[in-house]
Amino acid sequence: MTDIEIHKPEPILSSGTELELFSRSSNIKHTIKTLEAGTQVLITAFYSNGLDLVKELQSHLKRKLPNKSFQEQRAYRAAFRKLSNLILIEIVDHKLIVKKAPSIGWLKTLYPKTSDFLLTFPQVQGLNSAWQWNQNGISTPVLRNKIHPFYGVYFPTRFDHLILFDNWLKRYSGPKKSAIEVGIGSGVLSFQMVKHGFQKIFGTDTNPNAIVGLKESMGTTKLSRKIELDFASLFGKWSKPSELIVFNPPWLPASHTLDRNDEAIYYNQNLFLDFFEAAKNRLLPEGKLVVLFSNLAQISNVTNDHPIEKELEKGGWFQLEKCFKKTVKKASEKTTRDQHWRASEEVELWVLTHK
Ligand SMILES: C[S@@+](CC[C@H](N)C(=O)[O-])C[C@H]1O[C@@H](n2cnc3c(N)ncnc32)[C@H](O)[C@@H]1O
Repeated sequence: MTDIEIHKPEPILSSGTELELFSRSSNIKHTIKTLEAGTQVLITAFYSNGLDLVKELQSHLKRKLPNKSFQEQRAYRAAFRKLSNLILIEIVDHKLIVKKAPSIGWLKTLYPKTSDFLLTFPQVQGLNSAWQWNQNGISTPVLRNKIHPFYGVYFPTRFDHLILFDNWLKRYSGPKKSAIEVGIGSGVLSFQMVKHGFQKIFGTDTNPNAIVGLKESMGTTKLSRKIELDFASLFGKWSKPSELIVFNPPWLPASHTLDRNDEAIYYNQNLFLDFFEAAKNRLLPEGKLVVLFSNLAQISNVTNDHPIEKELEKGGWFQLEKCFKKTVKKASEKTTRDQHWRASEEVELWVLTHK
């Protein structure tokens, strides 16, 4: 067991106010009015009643609110979030009490001490989809075993950067005693390093769920002796220099205050400066610093800044050995028009060494 506190939806132990009940026989228009008046609604009878209500709420808001410009879409999403979070569902004995409900194992593992409580319907939908990903696992082209991401942990859905890293690892001929991975997430890059013969990996993450999830899934297997974890920022307690440091950082600059889920996607201004400065003392003289990145922020016009190019340009602590690039395969044929820039999306693998 571990005493790191996981983040999870806060259980609602008592709704405080009177709840309106919703089932198939309820008048859905009336229920939406109830939500708009700020009253909470409890789904009873079937799980699908909740899905129907959410769907109807979406159609209602689409009819009512313009949903075209960026601002309008934001307002629409905010209204949907506010109203849908008033829809509640009951959990008894770690299970959804309504009929034909999905069984969601997180209700037991994330809430070992609380068996009966309420959650909002969107929270339950989030838990359910994360449970499906965890149970079904994700096959990647670089690992024999699937990865099973823990609740609330970033996991890869496209694999081009993993292929770049695998190709680099295949050709890497340096020592393989130890490596450090900053921001280990669901562990995929570390598993690749183990596959390629690294004896010991020291990983960190600022997301407690990443650390707890990996500890649980590795259990006492051989892997757990190869990968050591620290719930901490950047290098955490790993101060001994390694021959390889790997970081797949967030690829987009933050334009708002970050909450924990965002930390896998958006970086704060100081992240790269702090990372390079700390990496300087953790890399052995002949060691390699590998950073995965992408041109996503540049091609979507979010920023022209490229934090790794910036480090190299300003003549910081590291120099470029090589940068490998790979065009990203389209996620699906249904790419929408406003995503046409994705056609030029590339992932990058930067290999840096001490100056
Ligand atoms: C893009 S994800 C990559 C996860 C994993 N390495 C992979 O490649 O699938 C970035 C990860 O870095 C973590 N992270 C963000 N800032 C961090 C920091 N300052 N120190 C350690 N980890 C951090 C996030 O929580 C997230 O798990």
